[in-house]
Amino acid sequence: MKSLALLHAAELVTLAGPQRPRIGNELSGLGIIRDGGLLIRDGKIDIVGASDEIEEAARDAEIIDLGGRLVLPGFVDAHTHLVFAGNRLDDFERRARGESYEQIAKAGGGIWSTVEKTRAASEADLFAQATKHAEWFVKCGTTTVEAKSGYGLTLDDELKIVCVMQRLNQETPLEVVPTFLGAHAVPRDRSAGEYVDLVINEMLPRVAKEKLAEFCDVFCERGYFDVEQSRKILTAAKKLGLKLRGHVDQLTNSGGAKLMAELGAATADHLEKTDEQGIAALKTANVQPVLLPGSVYALGSTSYPRAREMIEAGLAVVLATDFNPGSAPTPSMPMVLSLACTQMKMSPAEAITASTINAAYSLNRGDAIGTLEAGKAANVAVFDCEDYREVAYWFGFRQMHAVYVRGKQISF
Ligand code: NIG
Ligand code: FE
Repeated sequence: MKSLALLHAAELVTLAGPQRPRIGNELSGLGIIRDGGLLIRDGKIDIVGASDEIEEAARDAEIIDLGGRLVLPGFVDAHTHLVFAGNRLDDFERRARGESYEQIAKAGGGIWSTVEKTRAASEADLFAQATKHAEWFVKCGTTTVEAKSGYGLTLDDELKIVCVMQRLNQETPLEVVPTFLGAHAVPRDRSAGEYVDLVINEMLPRVAKEKLAEFCDVFCERGYFDVEQSRKILTAAKKLGLKLRGHVDQLTNSGGAKLMAELGAATADHLEKTDEQGIAALKTANVQPVLLPGSVYALGSTSYPRAREMIEAGLAVVLATDFNPGSAPTPSMPMVLSLACTQMKMSPAEAITASTINAAYSLNRGDAIGTLEAGKAANVAVFDCEDYREVAYWFGFRQMHAVYVRGKQISF
């Protein structure tokens, strides 16, 4: 493969820094090179530097002039529910009339309605819909996503979803990191206890044996899985070698953050209702908070998580979309950055770090993606603007100019 030189970025945001998740002031260190460039060889970043240095070194390379645009590492979206059938337009309309997420779920909408559609869909249909959504992510500058199962809730239907994720990974440019979320809701035909046993005795052993997922997640919430049931499932998953993530304290403060700390989870996600004790617990165990302001916004709530307190407590904050048909129908990390700055008072620099290198560490890929440094995958997002703050400042439209995945430009 011929090497490729990308030259003349107004700002090349490298995020070069310590080889670990960034905390405190480190979240503001973007490692910007003005009039920067990259030399890419075999899909990896070979040299990062000033454009004239790169040009010197790039004698045999194809040269692309970025014309003074902004360059970031591709976004890493560490919390999505990428594979599902249909949509939840009826829920959306009911919320607009004032019903809550919980009321709509009780009345026949919610997660269960997506489970019914996902069970009825063939693997081919699910793959076709997910491929379209994967394309949306790349068009918004995202090059890696974590994706959760959880709209099947039987062994076969969960495996169908995981197969779709594997195919997306192989057949689309988007890198997909699989998480098993069998405990997303209790199926209508079983008690919670029976279903927890099924997850532990049948689903998890199969997922672990065939290495179908890297992480296990649960929805720890009133009406879904309580702290005790969540502990049982996550403990079983940990014994089988899976790393842990969790939907916790989203609608009620149930002590979910503390549970994730107790179990040494990689991440605790949502945290809209987490208090200072929960934040302190996450710090003690170095659990990364994954904040999902898109779901707060789309649910019409104003209960955003306490991002500033988390940063001040020294947590390595991550931002993600929570892409799903119910509470967060957006694949757009730029939209999430806008919400992080306007609603959670994160700075644009903190938001960029949280959605690239910190997200990469939360997925165990901090050494391979998330910054523009020599040796990493050449996953590059080029924006039609000059200043990194513009990504979060302008909102409601796409500013993407080009996206490269492992050095290959994706056409859109
Ligand atoms: O992260 N909270 C649980 N799961 C999703 C919502 C899924 C759905 O409504 O379909 C979330 O918000
Ligand atoms: Fe979620």
